[in-house]
Amino acid sequence: MEWWKKAVVYQVYPMSFKDSNGDGIGDIGGVIEKVDYLNQLGVDVIWLTPVYESPMDDNGYDISNYYKINPLFGTMEQLEELLGMLHDRGMKLIMDLVVNHTSDEHEWFRAAKADKKSKYHDYYIWEEKPITGQQSFFSGSVWEYNAETDEYYYHLFSKRQPDLNWKNPNVRKEVYQLINWWLDKGINGFRMDVIDLIGKVPGKELMISPQTHEYLQEMHQNCFAGREVFTVGETSFATPITAPMYSKPERKELTMVFGFEHLGLEEVKGNGKWDLKKLDVNELKQVFKIWQHALYKNGWNSLFWSNHDQPRIVSRMGDDGRYRRESAKMLAMVLHGMQGTPYIYQGEEIGMTNVEFPLEDYKDVETINMVQEKLAAGWSMEKIMKGIYAKGRDNARTPMQWSAKEYAGFTNGTPWIKVNPNYSEINVEKELSIEESIFSFYQSLIQIRKTYDIISEGDFKLLAEEDARIFSYVRTWNGQELYVVGNFTGEEVVCPSEISKLVKNTDIILTNYKETQLQEEIVLRPYESIMWYKADDSME
Ligand code: NOJ
Repeated sequence: MEWWKKAVVYQVYPMSFKDSNGDGIGDIGGVIEKVDYLNQLGVDVIWLTPVYESPMDDNGYDISNYYKINPLFGTMEQLEELLGMLHDRGMKLIMDLVVNHTSDEHEWFRAAKADKKSKYHDYYIWEEKPITGQQSFFSGSVWEYNAETDEYYYHLFSKRQPDLNWKNPNVRKEVYQLINWWLDKGINGFRMDVIDLIGKVPGKELMISPQTHEYLQEMHQNCFAGREVFTVGETSFATPITAPMYSKPERKELTMVFGFEHLGLEEVKGNGKWDLKKLDVNELKQVFKIWQHALYKNGWNSLFWSNHDQPRIVSRMGDDGRYRRESAKMLAMVLHGMQGTPYIYQGEEIGMTNVEFPLEDYKDVETINMVQEKLAAGWSMEKIMKGIYAKGRDNARTPMQWSAKEYAGFTNGTPWIKVNPNYSEINVEKELSIEESIFSFYQSLIQIRKTYDIISEGDFKLLAEEDARIFSYVRTWNGQELYVVGNFTGEEVVCPSEISKLVKNTDIILTNYKETQLQEEIVLRPYESIMWYKADDSME
């Protein structure tokens, strides 16, 4: 079995992880300090979000030099030191590849915008007149006027993130060159930012095209063939039909993809992420079911609840008050029991929660732009703030809570963004000191994945499919069975008899409550979750 089928990835958003030099901004030195913590958790791969040179309009997703480390984050020597430390511990490092766009301060764009005749002009996408009213993901038009050449350039994200023109073979060559440069340095692979957008047709609302797959195959040939490389595509437009196209090994594109359908269920369809709708757990189950089936023996999936763009999962789908620990563990179990490679986002392993700051404390360019746009569209401030509390990206970007010390032990200076006020209650030091911690629950889930091949190999079937109070499924493989049930409510739920019957004569391998009852009727306590396993009978 390929190693990554049993691996668990931990995402580090360095800016908010640990500050080692007191400037209030997390850095590579901070990650180095915490390598043993990550090793203790048991994760196999660290995904580091961008640490390259950048003016930081979008916290590093706007790169001005792909070959340099941003001094805010440290030095190339430190990056190499980190890589060595991870490798010494048998861990791997993947970095972010952001090549749908560059920063407007990249030397290619500087040359492109100054002179139509520059060879770099065609590295970007230009129009003399904007062709449509297409809106960027960060509000406002995708077209921005450039006086020097009297044209408009195209940007799907902020206007400081001009999109690269992938049709130009020289652009592709430059990208392959930088990928190879990093791989030669010894990093183990990449998480590829909005990679499904590289084949878009500018000016049309159509975001994806067959071209994307051609480019990825070309990239594979030029960079990954003959090497052991781990690649995961951020493919927000992927569907159960296209996800296998990206990730089937014989197509030679990517190792796996991030699908986002399960995280788009709390918005009014077609209205963008800020117009909120209550989660329907049955819808969530159906989405997972379809994706689990679509990729079974047909590509590979990534399993994730959180990342630096998403709110905290325990606030989003669990209970971040009374049942914080129980619900954080339940959500973890339901996700980690499925097929795919799980990703843990920093702080998830201690149950970090969303924040509700006054507007002036938000830092994210997406949030700041959205407020202006929605006010102009007539939204009330109350509705806007509700959207930010529920979905704002800064929920995930408050500093990692290491201890009850000032600023949660994140920095000796003043943090670039406010710390979640609950840090004295929720922090790593405290979590590590208690029995039955969320942290140790994650450790168990990681070990279970390593021990039981059925988690990586088994098929998937929902149980009690129509019951919106619980999320339950069975995995089967080689005569073995693995059952998971999670109570998605803060109430007691009598486990449907369909499930209680099936789990007779099986062993409980993990639960999130101390004592599990062994009666005929299983009554699930608030957010209780249980995992059962049954070995092949003929083996006994
Ligand atoms: C997706 C990244 O995850 C997000 O943080 C970023 O703003 C956009 N891509 C643009 O690079």
